[in-house]
Amino acid sequence: VTLDLVLIGFGNVARRFVRLLAELGPRLTYDHDIQTRVVGIATRRLGCVFDANGLDAVGRADFVESGSPLGPAARSTIGFLRASLERMSASARGGRLVVVETTTLDIVGGRPAVDHVRAALAGGAHVVTANKGPAAFAYRGLAAAASRANRLFLFESAVMDGVPIFNLQRAALPAATITGFEGVVNSTTNYILTAVEQGETFEGALAAMQRAGIAEADASLDLDGWDAAAKTAALANVLFDAGLTPHEIEREPVTAAAGPRILAARAVGRRLKLVASAERTGGAVRGRVRLAELPEANLLAQLEGQQNALVLHTDVLGDIAIVQRGSGLTQTAYGLVSDLVTIGREVRRSRTRAIPRPRPQARRGRTQATRDRR
Ligand SMILES: NC(=O)c1ccc[n+]([C@@H]2O[C@H](COP(=O)([O-])OP(=O)(O)OC[C@H]3O[C@@H](n4cnc5c(N)ncnc54)[C@H](OP(=O)(O)O)[C@@H]3O)[C@@H](O)[C@H]2O)c1
Repeated sequence: VTLDLVLIGFGNVARRFVRLLAELGPRLTYDHDIQTRVVGIATRRLGCVFDANGLDAVGRADFVESGSPLGPAARSTIGFLRASLERMSASARGGRLVVVETTTLDIVGGRPAVDHVRAALAGGAHVVTANKGPAAFAYRGLAAAASRANRLFLFESAVMDGVPIFNLQRAALPAATITGFEGVVNSTTNYILTAVEQGETFEGALAAMQRAGIAEADASLDLDGWDAAAKTAALANVLFDAGLTPHEIEREPVTAAAGPRILAARAVGRRLKLVASAERTGGAVRGRVRLAELPEANLLAQLEGQQNALVLHTDVLGDIAIVQRGSGLTQTAYGLVSDLVTIGREVRRSRTRAIPRPRPQARRGRTQATRDRR
């Protein structure tokens, strides 16, 4: 299967993604019979580029990092996307076209990422995205659009990078009900809270996360709890069809003023953590992001630096915890790659379904009794 990719956004995540694709290429081919070809790339300020025969995406990443533009600016990203979908319509009809959406999170309404996802599905493409916006603001509508179009809308790396949360639910919890969850899901704030405990300054720790490309482009999204609220909404929407947006999640920011509280908690054997949680009670879902003082024995209290964890409360399996010890751009890029593998499998499955099975034919000379025994 050759998947054709249109990349909307070519920042830290997308550039690591194309390099990881190149690194994992032989494995994807050998283990999953998947090849990939980037045919289009759109950015906001560095222009766009399209070639139906495939682009040297790693070369383009080097190019962008050296400060050069990709190509001429498109009048609008959505216009570039629609034109690319049209030019790749044969690939789209074959279910081999994938739009990889990695634009920045917009916390007002998830736009324009939501529009990109909608346009991609309408044009017959599958969608994978690291952007939390679409699942946090418009999950129900987009999931329904994907189902109508018979395409996949996947976003494993939107929460805890490539650690399988949505895949876990989809593939391994078919008969269990998730009743709630709590977790530490924002790496930047957990890094800052840990660093301040160790005597670093709040500003120094934040700057380290910005240099590493881990903090959001607008760091106030991390510090004000919006990133965690968007993840909470996305999780609640997918895990229990909550129909929430990040604006309906209660939020507590992490500011430099928390310094004395962090140190006072540490002095009595407790740790301050930014805890994201949601629970179903009756028909309602309540989501929160709050600074909580946790005893050291609590799993979430043991998370250092950029580590994340999520505890899912289920009816039949009790609590299931997933801990992410290492996080970074590679893990995020891996989530996108794992979504591509899911799509590749789906393309192969649908091809198998499309091939009519040969009808069993009675061999000449066989008696009715022989046929009945078979
Ligand atoms: N960094 C992480 O570790 C991480 C982890 C998980 C999820 N995420 C999510 O992944 C996404 C990408 O993160 P990132 O770190 O790669 O961000 P980034 O470095 O800021 O890159 C964002 C890219 O999107 C482009 N873009 C923004 N708006 C656009 C528009 N309207 N049309 C076309 N292109 C547009 C930007 O173009 P210009 O540069 O030209 O403006 C840039 O190429 C975000 O939604 C983020 O929340 C990131």
